Amino acid sequence: MDEELDPWSEVADAWSRYWAGFPEPVWSQIAATAGVGPGTRVLDIGCGSGQALRWFAERGASVAGVDPAIGMLQLAAAQVPGMLGPLGERSTDHLRPGDWEDLPWPAAHFDLTIGINSLQFAEDQLDALREAVRVTAPGGHIAVANWAEESQNDLAVLESAVQRAMDDEPTPDDPLRHAGGLDQLFAGAGIAVVDSGIVDLPWFLDNEDALTAAILFGEDDETVAILRPVVLEAAEPFRVGDGYRLVNRFRYAVGRTPTD
Ligand SMILES: C[S@@+](CC[C@H](N)C(=O)[O-])C[C@H]1O[C@@H](n2cnc3c(N)ncnc32)[C@H](O)[C@@H]1O
Repeated sequence: MDEELDPWSEVADAWSRYWAGFPEPVWSQIAATAGVGPGTRVLDIGCGSGQALRWFAERGASVAGVDPAIGMLQLAAAQVPGMLGPLGERSTDHLRPGDWEDLPWPAAHFDLTIGINSLQFAEDQLDALREAVRVTAPGGHIAVANWAEESQNDLAVLESAVQRAMDDEPTPDDPLRHAGGLDQLFAGAGIAVVDSGIVDLPWFLDNEDALTAAILFGEDDETVAILRPVVLEAAEPFRVGDGYRLVNRFRYAVGRTPTD
């Protein structure tokens, strides 16, 4: 795949190290609502580096992931290595390149289809959810979780400082981030919401280097040198010893697909 067309592959390592595990409280909420247990067939759309897949697999689910970024799928293969075949070969068929709009599985193939921090990248969010409905069994669950609006996130303090330093205009919040945004989208796709809300996601960084790397991943060295002091100054209220603790929030919705 052309690296220029695959920006998430370029930042996959940094993403996996600093960001991929922090939504665990929302995975837990979704699993409880959907009743995930041994044998539940789970698809993660925009699975990234696969930490959520591993978490669901550890609870007995049979997991599959899809992502357009090959670099992300390579990391996901280390989290959920797949089955050994009769000749000792390892199948990675449960991890497939693809995207929200065109999922590479047949209809009604999963019991629970999730998208964590990925639906905002779909070209058309409603079409994307309809495609999720197609691959989910009738009466099965679909769950989406995304960043809440800026005012809910400690991270916004750091992002605003970086934007000011770069003379960038603040970006308005996607409607998906606000209360009721996901519920409305689910209704439009014919998914009956059974649970929705907001979850606190504490985020810990060990030291200044980790914080800088996590906030400025994907930036070139010159930009990092300029922005590092900006990030560290803005993060001072969140300092705990040598490290940092920020609390961000995700909104989520879990719904059931139609049975007729
Ligand atoms: C912010 S990361 C989140 C990854 C993972 N879900 C997590 O929570 O760590 C967004 C992911 O969405 C993927 N992505 C981008 N566009 C997509 C699309 N149209 N359909 C599905 N996934 C997409 C990216 O490749 C990336 O892995």
